[in-house]
Amino acid sequence: MSAVLNAFIRLRRRLSLLCNKLLTAAFGLDPWHAGTALDRLYPADIIAHLNKRTESERQSAVEIGCGLGDVISALNFKRKTGYDLDGTVLKAAAFKNIFSGHGRTCFLPLDFPKSFLDGKHDSIILVNWIHHLPPDILKSCVTKLYERHLNQDGEIILDTVSDPAYEYNHQIQAITEGLGCSVFQIGAYPRGRSIYALRKTAPQ
Ligand SMILES: C[S@@+](CC[C@H](N)C(=O)[O-])C[C@H]1O[C@@H](n2cnc3c(N)ncnc32)[C@H](O)[C@@H]1O
Repeated sequence: MSAVLNAFIRLRRRLSLLCNKLLTAAFGLDPWHAGTALDRLYPADIIAHLNKRTESERQSAVEIGCGLGDVISALNFKRKTGYDLDGTVLKAAAFKNIFSGHGRTCFLPLDFPKSFLDGKHDSIILVNWIHHLPPDILKSCVTKLYERHLNQDGEIILDTVSDPAYEYNHQIQAITEGLGCSVFQIGAYPRGRSIYALRKTAPQ
């Protein structure tokens, strides 16, 4: 049974990769969006982690820098919003979402942190682009997201990378210091990427 399930998961991942390649060519997107199987190992782990949460913890999810929406689209949350600063990417993401089979995701423009989120959410995802933010800016953004925009028991999902080819190699201890969150490592990936869930715990 698990062999059949694994084959199905591999087939889905291949179809998603093929779809991203076609959308990248059709919409003239940055080649990053075409992706490779190695680049695309972490989305499935984030999706599995978040979809395991209880129903009351799966009301609202947002992803900032969502790209083609491979993560946010596949979440089993009541309300899903993908933000990105690239309007063409958002159009391609909305097109792909029609065929996702995971329900509607709303895709909106946002240049973060010049513009910020509205409201409170159960999950806020920022993955595979925050290596462009200087450490002090990232720290203040994560603190503001955590304190003002995350529900109690909600999670911020973010990544750090250790490959020096990236602009900034953030340290999870520096990002989370003083927040009072619990930190869980979802997984480790090529180029020294680690994906973390920062859970908002009740103040002691
Ligand atoms: C490498 S893709 C990652 C997409 C998605 N998070 C994933 O991991 O599959 C990075 C995306 O972040 C977007 N982005 C980069 N800087 C951003 C910013 N300051 N505000 C919003 N989106 C941003 C880019 O336009 C791009 O679509």
